[in-house]
Amino acid sequence: MDKAKYNLGVQGKHILVIGGSGAIGSEIVRSQVANGAKGITITYNSNKTAAEALQAEIQAEGVSVYIAQVDMVNTARFDLFLEEAVQAVGLEFDAAVIASGTSPNTPFDEQTIEQYRKIYEVNTFGPTLAARSIANRMKAKGVKGSIVFITSTNGKDSNASHSNHYDGSKSALWPTIRNMAKMYGKHNIRTNGIAPGWIDTAMNDDVPDLKDEIKKIYLGRQGTAAEVGNLATFLCSDASSFVNGEDWEIDGGY
Ligand SMILES: NC(=O)c1ccc[n+]([C@@H]2O[C@H](COP(=O)([O-])OP(=O)(O)OC[C@H]3O[C@@H](n4cnc5c(N)ncnc54)[C@H](OP(=O)(O)O)[C@@H]3O)[C@@H](O)[C@H]2O)c1
Repeated sequence: MDKAKYNLGVQGKHILVIGGSGAIGSEIVRSQVANGAKGITITYNSNKTAAEALQAEIQAEGVSVYIAQVDMVNTARFDLFLEEAVQAVGLEFDAAVIASGTSPNTPFDEQTIEQYRKIYEVNTFGPTLAARSIANRMKAKGVKGSIVFITSTNGKDSNASHSNHYDGSKSALWPTIRNMAKMYGKHNIRTNGIAPGWIDTAMNDDVPDLKDEIKKIYLGRQGTAAEVGNLATFLCSDASSFVNGEDWEIDGGY
């Protein structure tokens, strides 16, 4: 029996987690480490303390770790960061998960152009440009890679006007998933999304009708960040080698 063919882990891989300082991002990191990742690169925006704490936690597991603050819309700088991370960890990237994002809740009539610009920059433009850089690097290095965007069920079925800007910014990742899946698929680089529903993190602390929303979930509870992390690990693993161009919902049934 060829056991490697049925392995669900990410043994020996170097995985980049953009937004690894966040609630879902940090659980994605832990899931990858628990399933055999050998190198991890974590990015953060403002929470260097969280990134450093996670770095120490997984270094203690014997993983080679690099952390950095990145500006995803500065492509030249982002490309340099990728090179620095590979040099520091000593392994080329096998997979990347883009788990950064911002989600302010504002009454529809109070949403400003500045907010729309900022949210789309963080949730759409940055992830799109970063994913392009990562895919081009994987292609140039001949890597069989996997790229995963953390989108949102809100981007598929928007159900609250207070997050109209957020919902649009997540929805706008879908064409990138499809286009990249096609463009880079022939180079053995897969592109997918994970669309979480309600996940129990501080991001939802100011959602006005959260209790009513939770009642609509068939499983009767919010998801955990670890449950999203495990799906991300599967999509980064060779076990998902024929999954390409999808945006997988993980919402407990809704
Ligand atoms: N929680 C949910 O129910 C839910 C549902 C669907 C989708 N999602 C998506 O899942 C992802 C993670 O969410 P979460 O709940 O883990 O939230 P979180 O704990 O607030 O994490 C957000 C992450 O994004 C980074 N970030 C924030 N602003 C940024 C900016 N301007 N530029 C670059 N990075 C920035 C944060 O970095 P710092 O902390 O270092 O500033 C952090 O790493 C997001 O894309 C979110 O939209 C969440």
